[in-house]
Amino acid sequence: MPDLEEEKRSAAYAALDLVRDGMVLGLGTGSTVAYFLEGLSKKISGGLKITGVPTSIRTMETAVSLGIPIVEKWGRIDMDVDGADLIDRSGNMIKGGGGALLREKIVAHSSDTVVIICDSSKYVDSLRKAIVPVEIIPFGAEATAEKIMSMGCTVSLRGEGTYRTDNGNLIADCAFSRIEDPQALDSDLHRIPGVVDTGIFARLADRLLLGINGEVRTVAFNRRV
Ligand code: 5RP
Repeated sequence: MPDLEEEKRSAAYAALDLVRDGMVLGLGTGSTVAYFLEGLSKKISGGLKITGVPTSIRTMETAVSLGIPIVEKWGRIDMDVDGADLIDRSGNMIKGGGGALLREKIVAHSSDTVVIICDSSKYVDSLRKAIVPVEIIPFGAEATAEKIMSMGCTVSLRGEGTYRTDNGNLIADCAFSRIEDPQALDSDLHRIPGVVDTGIFARLADRLLLGINGEVRTVAFNRRV
């Protein structure tokens, strides 16, 4: 059985080797990123100077507690370091398991380089079958969920509708049994009124650092944006 926690930690620490003095870093969200923040904090104590852009309140609070300087307004981000729920061989991802997909996508799109850190369970041949988190506004949420369901998935509102994102919205977890084209599905979902954004990050990764079999494998992608 792979030690997934060790894989996460080793992938996160490998990302630290890419950090340079003076960088503005996108700080993703999740348990893998937590290891990156821990390592970053140690480097800052050793004299490294960086600024972080957190993708969630949770990451912001962790960063502050670890002495990582943060900003919420930025001109340009040198490198975004984030996790993923799934990532395929083309760099398509499903994100939003931790509910931070909207801010994560904004930060990824603002970044010169997007580095994804994962354990081996997240790396898949394709995203064919997946639960896609979709951020929707509370007004008319049931009607929005009905429209999403007509696209061939089952939908459950996270926390039976009680969960709120950092932006005050809901997450509809949409179980698709077959995704042919992630980019097209993302575009179709965006056409439904009430949908704010989706957890489909179509070819948004530049580089994957994958913890696997006691080592960290690097996979490079051609990012679309
Ligand atoms: C949060 C995310 C996370 O990056 C994703 O859920 C992976 O989390 P973890 O590192 O805990 O497995 O998209 O919205």
